[in-house]
Amino acid sequence: MAIKEMLDLFEVDQEKCQRDGLCVAVCPKEIIELKDESPVPCPIDGALKLCMDCGHCVAICPHGALSHRAMTSEECPPFVRDMLPGPENVEHLMRARRSIRVYKDKPVEAETLTKLLNVASFAPTWANTQKIKWVVVNGKEKVERIAGLAVDWMRDLMKNKGMVDGATVQLSKAYMMRIGKTVEAWDAGFDLTLRGAPALVVAHAPNDYPAANTDCAISLSYLELAASSLGLGSCWAGALWMVTKNCQSLREALGIPEGDANYGMMIGYSKYRYHRLPLRNDTRITWI
Ligand SMILES: Cc1cc2nc3c(=O)[nH]c(=O)nc-3n(C[C@H](O)[C@H](O)[C@H](O)COP(=O)(O)O)c2cc1C
Ligand code: SF4
Repeated sequence: MAIKEMLDLFEVDQEKCQRDGLCVAVCPKEIIELKDESPVPCPIDGALKLCMDCGHCVAICPHGALSHRAMTSEECPPFVRDMLPGPENVEHLMRARRSIRVYKDKPVEAETLTKLLNVASFAPTWANTQKIKWVVVNGKEKVERIAGLAVDWMRDLMKNKGMVDGATVQLSKAYMMRIGKTVEAWDAGFDLTLRGAPALVVAHAPNDYPAANTDCAISLSYLELAASSLGLGSCWAGALWMVTKNCQSLREALGIPEGDANYGMMIGYSKYRYHRLPLRNDTRITWI
């Protein structure tokens, strides 16, 4: 029977461990040590508090010798190099992704959305905090209701000349003009905020750590590329964000806790197919 090192943070199978020190080398918190007299790597004093459950120690071990409190070696699927797309495929996927604003009148299956969110949960997060939560508004009518609430807020803002709930909302002249156009379009039956999308997902995270906004954006970027690979279109809901930042009733309708950073993304099947990859500005690099 394999002899296990029973430790609070991780256990190492002494029969499998080759003492190659890989876990020591990659641990980002430098909390694993391999002493000459020790048969296997061990956590340093205080490691329990410092560990961020990133799983690098489990993932790097070629022998499957280390199992962590957050994940055993067996629970982590093997890394299969042949499953990776080539660099041309990755570039094509990234360049072919478009912001889709005209959707088919076709719902997105809940299973598909769940699958996408599960993939997005593997996005990197600040110190592996993984604080992102998701709100899914699934169904065209439900999305339309959210867009309607956003337009109500815009209408109030215009009527009260930039004042909402007794406070001035600082917005540029160009943005105020955009709001005017959005309200006008809504009254004429067009939704410029959420574009008649069949689904909306909102990533949110408490603002009590420095990377809340960044982590939301990274997770949505993962989501967007995963959606593209499944033949789904998406678009960042910047117009909605301007409102959720300022409008409590909309945040409540979305179930976003007070003070949470948040950003939404429309999801749906594109009505039209693109045939070219549009160009962008030349890359600007400062080499130092
Ligand atoms: C916004 C952000 C900032 C980060 N800053 C650092 C950093 O300063 N140093 C570092 O070693 N890792 C940094 N990371 C990497 C995270 O610690 C890492 O993504 C997380 O532990 C999960 O591990 P993985 O990326 O291997 O999945 C950062 C990640 C994000 C998203
Ligand atoms: S989970 Fe990450 S931080 Fe914790 S011991 Fe393993 S490698 Fe180090």
